[in-house]
Amino acid sequence: MSHDPSRQLPPGVSRAQAYEASQDAGINPSSNDTIASVIARRYGRRDVLKGLLAGTALAAAGTGLAAAGNSLPAAAETPSRFHFKEISHGVDRTHHVAEGYDVDVVIRWGDPVSADAPAFDPYNQSAEAQRKQFGYNNDYTAFMPLPLGSNNGNHGLLFVNHEYTNEELMFPGLGRQDTKEAAFAGMTADLVAIEMAAHGLSVVEIQKNPAGKWQVLRGKYNRRIDGIGSLCDVTGPVAGHPRLRTKADPGGRSVIGTLNNCAGGVTPWGTVLSGEENFHGYFWGKLDTESAEARNHKRYGVPDNWYAWGKYVDRFDIAKEPNEPNRFGWVVELDPYDPTATPKKRTALGRFKHEGATVTLAADNRVVVYTGDDERFEYVYRFVSAGRFDPANRAANMNLLDSGTLYVARYNADGSGEWLPLLHGQGPLTVANGFESQADVLIEARRAADLLGATKMDRPEEIEVNPKTGKVYAIMTNNSRRKADQLDAANTRAANEWGQIVEMVPTGNDHAASRFAWSLLLQAGDPNDPKVAGKYHAGTSANGWFACPDNAVFDSQGRFWVGTDQGEAWAKASGTADGIWAVETEGPQRGLSKMFYRNPVGAEICGPTFAPDDRTLFVAVQHPAADGGEKFTQSGKGSTFEDPATRWPDFNEKMPPRPSVIAITKRGGGVLGS
Ligand code: FEO
Ligand code: CA
Ligand code: CA
Ligand code: CA
Repeated sequence: MSHDPSRQLPPGVSRAQAYEASQDAGINPSSNDTIASVIARRYGRRDVLKGLLAGTALAAAGTGLAAAGNSLPAAAETPSRFHFKEISHGVDRTHHVAEGYDVDVVIRWGDPVSADAPAFDPYNQSAEAQRKQFGYNNDYTAFMPLPLGSNNGNHGLLFVNHEYTNEELMFPGLGRQDTKEAAFAGMTADLVAIEMAAHGLSVVEIQKNPAGKWQVLRGKYNRRIDGIGSLCDVTGPVAGHPRLRTKADPGGRSVIGTLNNCAGGVTPWGTVLSGEENFHGYFWGKLDTESAEARNHKRYGVPDNWYAWGKYVDRFDIAKEPNEPNRFGWVVELDPYDPTATPKKRTALGRFKHEGATVTLAADNRVVVYTGDDERFEYVYRFVSAGRFDPANRAANMNLLDSGTLYVARYNADGSGEWLPLLHGQGPLTVANGFESQADVLIEARRAADLLGATKMDRPEEIEVNPKTGKVYAIMTNNSRRKADQLDAANTRAANEWGQIVEMVPTGNDHAASRFAWSLLLQAGDPNDPKVAGKYHAGTSANGWFACPDNAVFDSQGRFWVGTDQGEAWAKASGTADGIWAVETEGPQRGLSKMFYRNPVGAEICGPTFAPDDRTLFVAVQHPAADGGEKFTQSGKGSTFEDPATRWPDFNEKMPPRPSVIAITKRGGGVLGS
């Protein structure tokens, strides 16, 4: 996400600076080796700075970085796996896609979800209406075929996360309020309630009509899970723990809402996982420094005062309800096929700022979930279930995520890596270090990982598994705060504004193995600027490179499609609006990248998902107009409801811009990129 907390900041602080600040919310205080010292010991500082990682340091991993180099063949010499004509970098008020493809809006903020939902009227919005309508800032999407268990690419359930809200774009009359006081003054109890209702999840039934266009049906499956009234169960080792108990929930097992749902994953038994990411931003108030939660909240950046919720709703004021933040930051599981199902916060997967939760199976059918903690210098995690997936018994799989082991990754300089278990009583995770039980380890997963010596990464976003090769791709989006003395083999650049993609190969191709080999698939940013040192296949064109990879997806053929989120920094990072690039991961063209789709100004790419037949690519276009649209507003300042950088997708003078899920299809039918 690239939340815009600028309205709550003092005058003169830019929106980009505001987000930069928010990304330091939970500063990692550990002195964990960043590998800098390891690699410096081994290869010497000069070699690190020269980019030795592309050669010696990574050679052990078997696949060196696809750096621009003379030894790699030109693109024309080997056939591409992606057949489309590349589009250009650029930025304007609408979207662009490769020639021969269509972009259609499937559902927008405010569109009816439930059968009794009122029509959208942004001038007379209410929480009651919003609870029945599609939420704001669509992020992760999952396509769940109907019927359950089928591979139907024409009919299914669209599951969508609604990550956060942009008040200045949602509500008329707020304008841009450049101080925290002014922003909170502009918010009322009613507007806060609408915001809370616009968070959470949506499930909508969708079907392709005879013309090949997706339509939303308003049948029995459609539902909203929101941040204001939807109860979620807490399950696993932390359920009922005293640190989760509040006045409203003395049992510590039932939480109102799920918040900041970013990316997610689909389980083999047909449920969806959703990661609660930047939960710290919802809290305000002052915690007693003597409080038992003071150290914990500081490590997660709680409170961060992004919203006025705490002014009207006591549980978001940590002075009144110090345990409420412990009830967020989990992975949530929902069965979209059961419209009465209660979402479950699966605490065995740990508490941190989960970007997503990507599911695969170990060799013995234990369930493996990869999940990144998206903040500067945070970690990459993996969960392995205790029980095994049973393809013949759906009911037996439904609570597999409640017991198992959480691990955190260490990336060694020689291209090897290891998974360090977060197990109470093992190593430093002891009572002496403030962990009374496994519940404490999971609630304070970051501190546990600090003590284990995990590798501090450049903001881990989505992690994807290639269904054809089993290789794992962990996406680091950027880290402008990394300093020259904090470089390591996996995080190679100081003031890294562009990100990199780390490829991980589990030992024996078993996702439960304790070790893996790793290398860099590519280093994002401009490959032609020596100061940036972007590294791709040499055949990558002037439009083929990108900055700040974030959400990505493999199609069923094992082809990689990568989306970007540059936030306010897009002009500096790349000069192009965010988009989707097709990236080769195997063979002589490994590291070759081609631009396929481009967003309207101010929007980031979220939730790319293929229908099972690879004939539709769903994409969540998040916060159109919001990020860095100043050149496109009449005022020359940031976007507001009245003066947005774009009114995509409606282009109606009465309508604000609306976050929307789009469907990209090949005109006349066919597999994308064929
Ligand atoms: Fe919500 Fe890390 O993006
Ligand atoms: Ca992001
Ligand atoms: Ca993201
Ligand atoms: Ca986002």
